[in-house]
Amino acid sequence: MAVIADRCPEIQVTVVDLNQARIDAWNDPDLSKLPVYEPGLDAVVGRCRGRNLHFTTAVDAAIAAADMVFLSVNTPTKTKGVGAGQASDLRWIEASARQVAACAQGHTIVVEKSTLPVRTAETVKAILNAAQGEVAGAGAPKTFSVLSNPEFLAEGTAIPDLEAPDRVLIGGEDAASIDALASVYGHWVPQERILRTNLWSSELSKLTANAFLAQRISSINSIAALCEATGADVNEVAHAIGADSRIGAKFLKAGPGFGGSCFQKDILNLVYLCGHYGLHDVAAYWQSVVELNIWQQQRIAQLVVQKLFGTVTGKRIAVLGFAFKADTNDTREAPAIRICQDLLEEGAQLAIYDPKVPESQITSDLGCHPLISPMGSPLSGDGVWHRVTTPTEAVAQADAVLILTEWASFAELNWQELAGQMRKPAWLFDARSIADLSAAQAAGLQVWRVGCG
Ligand code: UGA
Repeated sequence: MAVIADRCPEIQVTVVDLNQARIDAWNDPDLSKLPVYEPGLDAVVGRCRGRNLHFTTAVDAAIAAADMVFLSVNTPTKTKGVGAGQASDLRWIEASARQVAACAQGHTIVVEKSTLPVRTAETVKAILNAAQGEVAGAGAPKTFSVLSNPEFLAEGTAIPDLEAPDRVLIGGEDAASIDALASVYGHWVPQERILRTNLWSSELSKLTANAFLAQRISSINSIAALCEATGADVNEVAHAIGADSRIGAKFLKAGPGFGGSCFQKDILNLVYLCGHYGLHDVAAYWQSVVELNIWQQQRIAQLVVQKLFGTVTGKRIAVLGFAFKADTNDTREAPAIRICQDLLEEGAQLAIYDPKVPESQITSDLGCHPLISPMGSPLSGDGVWHRVTTPTEAVAQADAVLILTEWASFAELNWQELAGQMRKPAWLFDARSIADLSAAQAAGLQVWRVGCG
């Protein structure tokens, strides 16, 4: 919405939320305190806020005034009831649709921006249609049109992704509404990149795009394990296959598995849909992408234990990176969570460093509180963790360093200096293949890199 406001100065954009603290944070005069860390976002918000970008909790009034409403609420995986663990929880979409139905005035275009299961638009339409023709306040009778406009930006590169998208997808039935939304994007996106489909194709394209991207990661991670067993190097294999223009070079980076709020959720959603329509083999095919991802995380934790003489009890391990990818403070489904939990279960003492993730977030993700230093008694058997503020602090007296996020600063670590602080024999486990391999080896570290035999 900030980018729309930036590119379309004549459009008034109002972002509404029920959560006052969140809205206050978006209105904080100190742009470094915005609730989402995203490179370049502060500059965009700084340019538009108060001009044509507004943040408020006055939801009803903003809906009444709007010509177009974007539903951008959370759709997490259901944790209970029918479809638990797979289907999306649509309670917030439904609540928002009801609020729009109640407060809209005149004609309103309702845009599904959240990632949704296929045919959700039917639910949204049914709720809106029930209010069609009603009159709210002094307004004209209500009419609605529903569009699907899924978002394809990736975290960490959200602003460039939005400013130069590969494509914008608009699904709908009413040509005039599609044109209205296309003209918003048309301010900066070339017309040939604005794709128009029916509602269901648009909804399904979003799930499919994420499923295909995630599948590439599971595929390369499966080959990484084979590379380690055979003496091949997964980076060389990825380069060789990526040079084939039919395969392409992107999204072939082996690592600790995919994280983030979307890949796993969207695939599970796809699995649920396939099952719902009786396509059980198709469901099993996509389910395996998620299973391979979990296996990769478990495999890395086990490998650390095995290389450290079969036990990490009482051993100090420096964990560098906790976010699910670089340039974000987001830890949702981060591979670091499962890997750290497995190591804590084995009794390790973890010193966790991440440039952007605060201690409170790690506490909530790991489900246990940090130990205030000094670390626990070495052989008590209880896994403990604490957050440190520099990589140097993390490696003090550590038996191993484990890199889990590809923060650029990890490529520049001074291994000579760090290795001197560690207990020997010391290991570097580089799950992102980002560290300077020869420098680490020259500093006397034993090195494991994902996908390198
Ligand atoms: C992903 C998609 O890339 C976006 O197109 C989509 O809009 C978004 O989900 C969404 O549905 O909201 P995002 O999760 O922000 O974006 O980040 P990605 O760059 O896709 O990374 C996801 C995970 O895959 C990260 O843990 C990353 O480290 C991992 N990854 C990515 C790899 O392990 N290897 C790769 O080659 C690429």
